[in-house]
Amino acid sequence: MSHPRPLTSRRIGLVGNSLTLEISSKAAELKAAGKDVVAFAAGEPDFDAPPHVKAAGIKAINEGRGRYTAAMGLMDLRKLVAKKLAANGFPYTAENVIVSSGAKHALYNALYAFCDPGDEVLFASPYWNSYPDMVRAVEGVPVPFPTRIEDGYEIDADALRRALTPRSRCLIINSPNNPTGAVYSRASMEKVAQVVRDANLVVICDDIYEHLVYADAKYVSLLHVAPDLADRVVVINGLSKSHCMTGWRAGYAGGPKEVIAAMGRFQSQATSHASAITQIASMAALEDGGLPDPTMIAEYDRRRRLMHARLNAMPGVKCPEPKGAFYALPDISAHLGKTHNGRLLRSAADVAQLLLEEDLVATIPGDSFGAPTNLRFAYTCSYENIGKGLDRVGNFFSKLG
Ligand SMILES: Cc1ncc(COP(=O)(O)O)c(C=O)c1O
Repeated sequence: MSHPRPLTSRRIGLVGNSLTLEISSKAAELKAAGKDVVAFAAGEPDFDAPPHVKAAGIKAINEGRGRYTAAMGLMDLRKLVAKKLAANGFPYTAENVIVSSGAKHALYNALYAFCDPGDEVLFASPYWNSYPDMVRAVEGVPVPFPTRIEDGYEIDADALRRALTPRSRCLIINSPNNPTGAVYSRASMEKVAQVVRDANLVVICDDIYEHLVYADAKYVSLLHVAPDLADRVVVINGLSKSHCMTGWRAGYAGGPKEVIAAMGRFQSQATSHASAITQIASMAALEDGGLPDPTMIAEYDRRRRLMHARLNAMPGVKCPEPKGAFYALPDISAHLGKTHNGRLLRSAADVAQLLLEEDLVATIPGDSFGAPTNLRFAYTCSYENIGKGLDRVGNFFSKLG
């Protein structure tokens, strides 16, 4: 009997795999096979979760607390998140907060709650490569708008305004930014706020890198400059990056009660709630002030300065100073069109593939970030490995024909 329909839905056909996870697992396979891989690929801290957070998780398991919780999360945790967000200047109580299985899950809930099929969702390009697929998953239309390397990838309110159409619905702001390392200024945010008011957009502020800011950079979220927009902004955050809890899946969102309740309804029918053990461990992280270990931030800063200096010193490589998160996004366009052992380098994807296969350096090609002439380097490996990996990268570029 013939099958009139494919086995999987049209909707799932809109969604692609995460290239970052694919390359990271390829690098992990090579490492497991004994190869000396330098991994600049994964956006994952190489530090461990704080001991008191781990202890709280272990205690919760031993006390038999791994049972269902309320869909929106444990009330004590929601209160702690609300307190943390209120300390940030956001007008939230526990009812404005939902706990989810990671920031990505919170983002997905927010997109689902905000968007109808056909709604356009805007975000600055280069962008985190999950945004387009997440938008397509809710049958929205991803609309990237450009930023410029000359401006250090600062968000450009004029470019945002030019990208507006009558279908524009939602803006995602991510500062500090993955993949550029940009930290948007107050002045830029004020201009963006005006576009949001004029176009009546709803906004998702993805603030997952809040604490990872260096030198004179300051984390500024949209609601800091535009508290009047609180009725249409959802703030996303979590413990993956600040507390090195990536695999624990600890994220949360704050926002208008009506939107948070809608996200809760969806979550209750999709995943029920975040892991009970993770929620209890997250309380330990937040009770302690919710701040990351300052020695970790200082170490990222040291690595950042090394990476920025070393990349910029390579001929044909341009890298604006990353101010936050743990990424650098150099432009390598001067090397595209050259050859490596007779193989033509057409885009960053070709370069990333050869760097991994031949020189055992894992990077993410910017093709999937809307930046096909860039490579993303995460400085989530040791200072020594950054030196070693960048020696190999410099050597690779110097040998091109
Ligand atoms: C911009 C951005 N948002 C959200 C996330 C997701 O974080 P989580 O591990 O909490 O789902 C990431 C992770 O890489 C990210 O880079």
